[in-house]
Amino acid sequence: MSELSPPPRLLDFVVDRLEVGIFAVDAEMKVVLWNHFMAMHSGHEPGRVIGRNLFECFPELPRVWLEKKIRNVFLLKNYAFTSWEQRPYLFHFQHNRPVTGGVDAIQQSCTFLPVKGAGDSVEHVCVSLYDFTDTAIFHGQLSHAIADLQREKAEQRRLIEKLEEAQNQLLQSEKLASIGQLAAGVAHEINNPVGFVNSNFGALERYVLDLFRVIDALDGPDGLAGAQAIRQQIDYAFLKEDIVALFKESKDGLDRVKRIVQDLRDFSRVDSVQAWQKANLQTCLDTTLNVATNEIKHRADVVKAYGQIPEVDCLPSQLNQVFLNLMVNAAQAMNQRGTLTLATGCEGDGVWVSISDTGSGIAPENLNRIFDPFFTTKPVGKGTGLGLSVSYNIIAKHNGRIEP
Ligand SMILES: Nc1ncnc2c1ncn2[C@@H]1O[C@H](COP(=O)(O)OP(=O)(O)OP(=O)(O)O)[C@@H](O)[C@H]1O
Ligand SMILES: [Mg+2]
Repeated sequence: MSELSPPPRLLDFVVDRLEVGIFAVDAEMKVVLWNHFMAMHSGHEPGRVIGRNLFECFPELPRVWLEKKIRNVFLLKNYAFTSWEQRPYLFHFQHNRPVTGGVDAIQQSCTFLPVKGAGDSVEHVCVSLYDFTDTAIFHGQLSHAIADLQREKAEQRRLIEKLEEAQNQLLQSEKLASIGQLAAGVAHEINNPVGFVNSNFGALERYVLDLFRVIDALDGPDGLAGAQAIRQQIDYAFLKEDIVALFKESKDGLDRVKRIVQDLRDFSRVDSVQAWQKANLQTCLDTTLNVATNEIKHRADVVKAYGQIPEVDCLPSQLNQVFLNLMVNAAQAMNQRGTLTLATGCEGDGVWVSISDTGSGIAPENLNRIFDPFFTTKPVGKGTGLGLSVSYNIIAKHNGRIEP
């Protein structure tokens, strides 16, 4: 033994008093070492165990399994291990828990160590048994806490989904409300051309009847002379001119109706699913302006200052909704005739749209409230205070910013 080795008695003492169960068996499963921890917890002093077969002393041990485990260590000359997670109660040891005051069975992890003799063969297997009860309890608490957290998370997810659904409904109803508001204006826009096309048709009908009279006179008693007389009478030169004009005017009127209907459809995209797509925001602005024209044309002149902007990925019908809200707000803010300016441009790799008016402006103390749901300064029945709040959410969904 070298001078640096600790005295053998000290070693024995430490092994005996370690807060770890240590015992060893020989190839016949006879106990050759039994430390203080083992004695204390099993209630079997070393004198009652040493030299005896482990399984005779402890019939409650899972013999088949444990014997095989130990024999394998003899055979393979390698460490083995059991964990408290798989086999927590190898020995049924009680444990007083000073913290909780309760009594638990000790949950154990064991290491099986081959101890070689003079040659290469394993003479003993030494088992160290560690108390993992605290870890196991902590682990249990942690698992509970994690399960609680996961339950809470699932509940939160459910709530978020509900909130999103509610917001979608709000969005939808806000959209319906503004479309309803617009419907009257749009009806007026359509009514106008339909009115004059209708009256043009009345004139055209009269003209055609006159022309029939001329043609029919050719077959009459006065023949060509009769026809010429009627032609004079109906002022053919004027009629010829007017027919062309009436057709052109009517065609323009019908085109207007067609465009309004097309814009309305583009605006709400009723016939396409709500999907992200590439769109030019200037087209969106124009479409929306046409749809809202009746709200605007009596209050403001429209000035467009469009820059060159690329198409962007968006939900066009939702952006139309934003533009509509901003245009209607602008129109409503102008007590006397003013100017509505629509401008676009690029900044970095994004695009911007500005909708400005020459109206009353927003009072400074209201600036940080205008995006709140239901904030309105308009009389009851006029504003619901949802326009900007809905717009804010739509722009947020587009990873954009909206500012007064
Ligand atoms: N262009 C603007 N000029 C002046 N004030 C504005 C303008 N746009 C918005 N505001 C102010 O912001 C408030 C909130 O606007 P928001 O569009 O959310 O609601 P609303 O127009 O009052 O009602 P709704 O749009 O639901 O009919 C308005 O009541 C108004 O006080
Ligand atoms: Mg509004």
